[in-house]
Amino acid sequence: MASRDAVKLVKVSKVYKMGRVYVVGLRNVSISFAKGEFTSVVGPSGSGKTTMMNLIGGLDRPTTGHIYIDGVDTVYLSDDELTVLRRTKIGFIFQFFNLIPTLNAMENVMLPMALAGRYSREERKRRALMLLRLVGLGHRARHKPDQMSGGERQRVAIARALANNPTIVLADEPTGNLDSKTGRSVVELMQKLNRERGVTFIIVTHDMEVADMTKRIVQVRDGRIVSDDHRR
Ligand SMILES: Nc1ncnc2c1ncn2[C@@H]1O[C@H](COP(=O)(O)OP(=O)(O)OP(=O)(O)O)[C@@H](O)[C@H]1O
Ligand SMILES: [Mg+2]
Repeated sequence: MASRDAVKLVKVSKVYKMGRVYVVGLRNVSISFAKGEFTSVVGPSGSGKTTMMNLIGGLDRPTTGHIYIDGVDTVYLSDDELTVLRRTKIGFIFQFFNLIPTLNAMENVMLPMALAGRYSREERKRRALMLLRLVGLGHRARHKPDQMSGGERQRVAIARALANNPTIVLADEPTGNLDSKTGRSVVELMQKLNRERGVTFIIVTHDMEVADMTKRIVQVRDGRIVSDDHRR
């Protein structure tokens, strides 16, 4: 059965081992993100924001606790199963875009569909073009990343994140490499996708102006959630 929660963390801790030293990334965190939510995660450098995103995104595994993605407890998945879940249910947006420089915008958006073994090649093309139009970049489909502005690159990354119609999109500092006006327009695009298409976002940011554009602000400090503010 479909879950109401896109993501649920139950008593999740992450301890990194550095030689003989243990570094705590996350301490006993429990939180859920419902489908359709538009959340920002804020907190000082080193507080555990990226750690939390990497765990939710299945890029890393918790030391203890359970992470449910669309109702599935990921603790019990093999590495291969976790990879499949990540490819089909999670979209990622990064600070430095992480587009493949040798591929054009359309091919970058098609890639996650190919990796997930989804859709025929024709459908992948059609979907990629549809998604690029959705982010206002239909006219840049043949451009490679170095032939686009920072804001355009991030919009391609947003289209790519939506390629497999994910349960949740994770964005770690998506405006960190953009000027404030461009950053604002990128977050406005995410707002629109949330409002009009129900896309669920978690956005990590240092920028309070960006956080203010979201409906829920989660504050992380020293590996713990210290506030969780639902607004509007
Ligand atoms: N792979 C790793 N190995 C060891 N320690 C790590 C690793 N990743 C993160 N840490 C440590 O875990 C803590 C949380 O790091 P994290 O990257 O989650 O912080 P952050 O909130 O994303 O910070 P920033 O705002 O600077 O990106 C920090 O003390 C960090 O040094
Ligand atoms: Mg970080």
